[in-house]
Amino acid sequence: MSTPTLDKSDQVEDATPYITATFRIRRFNPEVAAEATWEDFTIEIDPKERVLDALHKIKWELDGTLTFRRSCAHGICGSDAMRINGRNRLACKTLIKDINPEKPITVEAIKGLTLLKDLVVDMEPFFQAYRDVMPFLVANGNEPTRERLQSAEDRERFDDTTKCILCAACTSSCPVFWNDGQYFGPAAIVNAHRFIFDSRDDAGEQRLEILNDRDGVWRCRTTFNCTDACPRGIEVTKAIQEVKRALITRRY
Ligand code: SF4
Ligand code: FES
Repeated sequence: MSTPTLDKSDQVEDATPYITATFRIRRFNPEVAAEATWEDFTIEIDPKERVLDALHKIKWELDGTLTFRRSCAHGICGSDAMRINGRNRLACKTLIKDINPEKPITVEAIKGLTLLKDLVVDMEPFFQAYRDVMPFLVANGNEPTRERLQSAEDRERFDDTTKCILCAACTSSCPVFWNDGQYFGPAAIVNAHRFIFDSRDDAGEQRLEILNDRDGVWRCRTTFNCTDACPRGIEVTKAIQEVKRALITRRY
């Protein structure tokens, strides 16, 4: 009996186009030095992989002390926002081939929040601002005996702002927030918008008053950094403008 052999034309070529890429990462360890410093890591990697894959490779193969947050690895949990080549992005949604791997790729923590270690910042002020705008449905009156119905048109009014994953890419790209961490920031306003414009909600006035504060919506200077940074494509600046308009007209 003859043994089956592979004809040359049947053989699959190893087509993995690995490249050599350098990741210039801003490192910080308060137990070692008071200042952050840049450190280069050069690796072989498929350019179709993501920056998160590169960070894993560096951590697992070169330096286990490299510290960053990530969870889902698929653009859903919002935990791996970082500045990549000077722009806020999710590491798990950024392909290496799309960020010019011929030059060193810079990776650093998002700005405006206290740096704890390497790419990890203290998110507590960000989440406090989120909690402050009451990001939950407040429906007064009797308990319903069936779903609270809503027309497709009414649902559409806040559809965009339901997509937020609380990654902080918007808030930490805002110059007003950099200068004064007291500003609520775009993400909190987006999440207030999500409920203010929900026809089933009864706490719109309360949320508007919270955002009428000196650290509220009026601090926005309409720079559009937030809209550019949002990995979910939310029209963040537009949502902030709608909240401002609702404050003036009290119609929402
Ligand atoms: S609005 Fe966009 S950028 Fe801002 S926290 Fe939500 S998902 Fe992230
Ligand atoms: S790891 Fe969850 S959004 Fe990137």
